[in-house]
Amino acid sequence: MALERTLSIIKPDAVAKNVVGEIYSRFEKAGLKIAASKMKHLSRREAEGFYAVHRERPFFNALVEFMISGPVVVQVLEGENAVLKHRDILGATNPKDAAPGTIRADFADSIDANAAHGSDSVENANIEIAYFFPATDVYAR
Ligand code: PPS
Repeated sequence: MALERTLSIIKPDAVAKNVVGEIYSRFEKAGLKIAASKMKHLSRREAEGFYAVHRERPFFNALVEFMISGPVVVQVLEGENAVLKHRDILGATNPKDAAPGTIRADFADSIDANAAHGSDSVENANIEIAYFFPATDVYAR
């Protein structure tokens, strides 16, 4: 098993529902440790940069609008197989497909407002972590 880090974002819908603590608790219970954390209201430029890989997809503008509609909570999670473990806890991208007990099944309303983001590979996690946190702000756990 590999010790990994992943980038996690609690999206504006979940922040507005006041379930940040509940989501953090699920991370901790799954053995994921919080190595960095901050609340942030993304600028349009920051959101567009973060999702640049999706620029050509039909939902890009809607995704950016949603991500700047309110503050988000961004964290680095560390643990064994953190990338996959985190995505398992989140559940499928579309909450209609998310398994019962996952964060998206419990807190997301739609594919547009789907509660949380998780890196999809170790390579992308490293890029996404660096997008939000200087290395000195990530603490080994
Ligand atoms: S994934 O999880 O990255 O494989 O999913 P993917 O389908 O590639 O979607 C990438 C991100 O785009 C969001 N998304 C959407 N937003 C708005 N409307 C629609 N229809 C839509 N479809 C997908 C999806 O939530 C992913 O966001 P992140 O923040 O990466 O989870």
